[in-house]
Amino acid sequence: MSALLDINNLHAGVDGTPILNGLSLAIQPGEVHAIMGPNGSGKSTLSYVLSGKDGYEVSDGEMLFDGRSLADMAPEERAIAGLFLAFQYPLEIPGVTNMTFLKTSLNAILRGRGEDEMDAASFLRLAREKSRALGMNDEMLKRQLNVGFSGGEKKRNEILQMAMLEPKLGILDETDSGLDIDALKTVAEGVNALRAPDRGMLVITHYQRLLDFIKPDVVHVMAAGQIVKSGGPELALELEKSGYGEYVGEAVNA
Ligand SMILES: Nc1ncnc2c1ncn2[C@@H]1O[C@H](COP(=O)(O)OP(=O)(O)OP(=O)(O)O)[C@@H](O)[C@H]1O
Ligand SMILES: [Mg+2]
Repeated sequence: MSALLDINNLHAGVDGTPILNGLSLAIQPGEVHAIMGPNGSGKSTLSYVLSGKDGYEVSDGEMLFDGRSLADMAPEERAIAGLFLAFQYPLEIPGVTNMTFLKTSLNAILRGRGEDEMDAASFLRLAREKSRALGMNDEMLKRQLNVGFSGGEKKRNEILQMAMLEPKLGILDETDSGLDIDALKTVAEGVNALRAPDRGMLVITHYQRLLDFIKPDVVHVMAAGQIVKSGGPELALELEKSGYGEYVGEAVNA
């Protein structure tokens, strides 16, 4: 079985400043991985590099998604191939309703795959069903994307996007920050509902409590742009107790 995501010795940065320094990570289909690590260790950068955000340059190493090199694919090709990123800070788009945004994204992906677009009625039905399952009010679909949404509402909305797009690999950056305990559970349930034998998930988080609800298969510690330790869910519990002190300064210049 080939890995869904296979990152080898990845070096990447912004404006010539290195941020990822030889990062390696492999996610098999069906697996949920968590990345924890101190502020500034490069977690969000990893998610941006994977999704192909402008300004992030790969200088060495490889990122294979389903056997294809991500570096050779434009951001939209990556989305069409089934890569989804939920941002740490979701974008606000005044003038575009949440519904329009979701529909445009989904249809662009379907078109890119050579499949039929979804008609308005089916789309509305699906969006309502998925948003209710996440405890969201229908009104949220009619509002402008993320404009005036509370922190928790934005995060739920990211999970809604993922539920609609059904990616092969979902990357969630700090989806737990700013969530109250009920919202945290709802989001975790949304993530758990998307677990599937052919889907992988990469959850970036600072909080062990999220991992009580989303049981990861593998937990990684990231420091100074590298994965410095990997283990099972018990690693997250250890980190909660001991902090990152022992890992700081651990990464070597690879
Ligand atoms: N566009 C950029 N320009 C300059 N420096 C950047 C840029 N993006 C990231 N960095 C730097 O790279 C480092 C890693 O940032 P990143 O956002 O990936 O950390 P993180 O692990 O996600 O942190 P946090 O836990 O606070 O979210 C930081 O020192 C940051 O300042
Ligand atoms: Mg971050």
